[in-house]
Amino acid sequence: MTSVLKDKTILLGVSGGIAVYKSVELLRLLQKAGARVRVIMTENAKWFVGPTTFEALSGQPVCSDLFRDKGSGAISHIQLADQTDAVVIAPATANVIAKMAHGIADDALSTFLLAVTAPVVVCPAMNTHMYENPATRRNLEILKSDGRHIVDPASGELACGTSGAGRLPECEVILDRIAHFLTPKDMTGTNVLVTAGPTREPIDPVRYISNPSTGKMGYAIARAAEYRGAAVTLVTGPTALEDPRGVRVIKVETAREMAEAVFDRMDMAQVIIKSAAVSDYSPAEAAPHKIKKGAERMTLTLEKNMDILFELGRRKSNQVLVGFAAETQSLAENAQAKLAAKNLDMIVGNLVNQPGTGFGADTNRVTFFFRDGTREELAEMDKGLVAHTLLDRVLNLSK
Ligand code: CTP
Repeated sequence: MTSVLKDKTILLGVSGGIAVYKSVELLRLLQKAGARVRVIMTENAKWFVGPTTFEALSGQPVCSDLFRDKGSGAISHIQLADQTDAVVIAPATANVIAKMAHGIADDALSTFLLAVTAPVVVCPAMNTHMYENPATRRNLEILKSDGRHIVDPASGELACGTSGAGRLPECEVILDRIAHFLTPKDMTGTNVLVTAGPTREPIDPVRYISNPSTGKMGYAIARAAEYRGAAVTLVTGPTALEDPRGVRVIKVETAREMAEAVFDRMDMAQVIIKSAAVSDYSPAEAAPHKIKKGAERMTLTLEKNMDILFELGRRKSNQVLVGFAAETQSLAENAQAKLAAKNLDMIVGNLVNQPGTGFGADTNRVTFFFRDGTREELAEMDKGLVAHTLLDRVLNLSK
């Protein structure tokens, strides 16, 4: 999900608010995503968490005074600015936001912010009245028009006892938005329709036929396309995953509902990626009440569901159509047969009975098969990276 942060140098700017404790976790998440982190704190931030914590975790001296810091003496704020790939200010107080908006440079952080040319992500966190104050609103608008990226604060109970907008969002949300802002927008103007997850075919009100799909691959594709600027609709069966931010999510249960949702939207899409694990069959009739146990044996009559992807392939005009093939054997043969039968541009094949791949895993090992008979085998990698590689190929096919 955050491969864009790998090997990047991120400058974490910490200003004085109660949410400073969350910056510590954010630092760790940035590092986990592969970034190198340097920290600049304001003097007020140090009242909440001492610089030692940030120094210990980042392994680098914290800069907070332009003239007196011995620890960072070797590296000036100008050098620091030149070495920075992206800046994240979390929490950003009303004061820091005001200084940024008006080009005031009276401490290490604000001076650095004037000198840095890398993208800047600002995470406002403050009391609701301060956030809603016309001066703060105006300053945030100035930052936006200057091309700064703003992560909107969350709403809820604030430390000061009031309730409303102003909370620093959870660190995962901040990390997700950083990845979004930093990803090059090579899919702007493209409508992408993604399906994900399993379907559930009811047997009676308390039982269903389904499969172990968790939706992780499809959600990773939707998220990656949103990072790249696409307008994304995700049609998903039941999953335990959080809705990807910035994505239109349509929740369905059965294969029939998924088919309806997909066909309603297929004409708007330029790219359709069908990663859902659709039930091939459903009970001919769902019992209206819970089926009681009785006979030693019972037979369930199943009816074949529509093959949504096959139908998409039949109806498609100029969309790029991508399918998935989950196999337990003869991957190439089965995947290529599905590619041809369903009139696809590309199919993503994977063997689901191997470790590190398939249902529920965070990684996947897939092979792309293309219409022209070529194939590309990828190493086992994070599903986020599989998603981005898949979208790279989709962009090539759209040219
Ligand atoms: N698919 C679909 N509708 C169905 C079944 C499958 O749209 N009723 C799509 C899946 O979303 C996937 C592709 O078809 O993109 C292949 O799904 P898979 O389960 O691997 O294959 P099937 O076509 O169902 O064939 P089989 O189960 O015989 O392997």
